[in-house]
Amino acid sequence: MKFQESLKKHYFDIVKLRRQLHQKPELSRQERETTQILEEFLTSKGIAVTRPLPTGLVATIKRGQGPVIAFRADIDALPVKEETNLPFASKNEGIMHACGHDGHAAVLALAMLCFLEDESWQGEVRGIFQPSEEMYGGAKPMIEKGVLDQVELILGLHIWPEIPQGIVGSCVGTIMASNDRFSVKIKGQSAHGATPHLGVDPIVSACNMVNSLQTLISREIAPWEGAVLTIGSIKAGTAYNIIPNEAVIEGTIRTLSPVIREKMEKSLKRLCSYSAKALGTEAIVEYIEQYPPTINHKEVIELVKANLPETLEYKTLDHPSMAAEDFAYYLEEVPGALFFLGSGTKEYHYPLHHSKFQFDEKILSFGAELFYNAGLNYLQKNVCQ
Ligand code: NI
Repeated sequence: MKFQESLKKHYFDIVKLRRQLHQKPELSRQERETTQILEEFLTSKGIAVTRPLPTGLVATIKRGQGPVIAFRADIDALPVKEETNLPFASKNEGIMHACGHDGHAAVLALAMLCFLEDESWQGEVRGIFQPSEEMYGGAKPMIEKGVLDQVELILGLHIWPEIPQGIVGSCVGTIMASNDRFSVKIKGQSAHGATPHLGVDPIVSACNMVNSLQTLISREIAPWEGAVLTIGSIKAGTAYNIIPNEAVIEGTIRTLSPVIREKMEKSLKRLCSYSAKALGTEAIVEYIEQYPPTINHKEVIELVKANLPETLEYKTLDHPSMAAEDFAYYLEEVPGALFFLGSGTKEYHYPLHHSKFQFDEKILSFGAELFYNAGLNYLQKNVCQ
């Protein structure tokens, strides 16, 4: 069956599925009902599913001998109070699908149905409905459970309101940044505000450190590399006339390559240590690695571009996004790419994570056809003789 026929047959069900998911958004690692809804939908259509983790699932279609390809959709929602006034708005107070992951799941479900009804390919199509993208990272535990075993190609997409509807954006190489976080505890010695010479002031040391940290990007990273260091929190003190014992600063570091990521971590630790010592304080740095940069593979971008649906136009992104995605982990293991599916229109213009974020459900079929066309082409070309 061709894409248009499957689309016609299932479009109503897919929109219904998306609205059902939208109405029942769940936070990372709590996607129980979401998983249940998806499992019931897929199995009712004759697609086998497994549940390698407590939430999320993997749908599999096998046909004869051939390559294994995979698609990934994230399924979790955000702690946002929905303000869309949609008839199918969130029923879970304070939680909303404000990042379009309900759409991603619907796109993947539709693509799976298209593969199910097309008998012109051989091999295996795996649909990874992954939990916990917003927090904790569900990609890594999914990979550890073997969801990428034998996989030769993986595609993912994210709905993207900054790109106009009808356009899909991506690029060869880094499309999204790494997003490590850090905290620095600066230990001083408390004293009366009137007698600073009898203590060691961690606040002055922290302020000095915050300013010095900004030199890491401007003086140690090549101008064409691109990186971000933001201090988002600074905490110290209890009263206006007391020098406290300690101050704590917290921040995020975003980089576009593993080399720069490693350099930033080393430089941060060095600068914090010496900056603290210069003022007689001590810095205890905790560096927490989160998602690595998401780096697209050239041959996969070419494959998708060569098999683009008529409903979409491809645009190379002007620059990568400094936000992060745990899809990065899949791309460290197998060839693949992430795509930004444009959803911006006059009506649908709110950014991701906004309480009024919405998209036109028409784009569900655009995304599914992108997956289907590229995947089908790969399976047909790489069939085992
Ligand atoms: Ni998202």
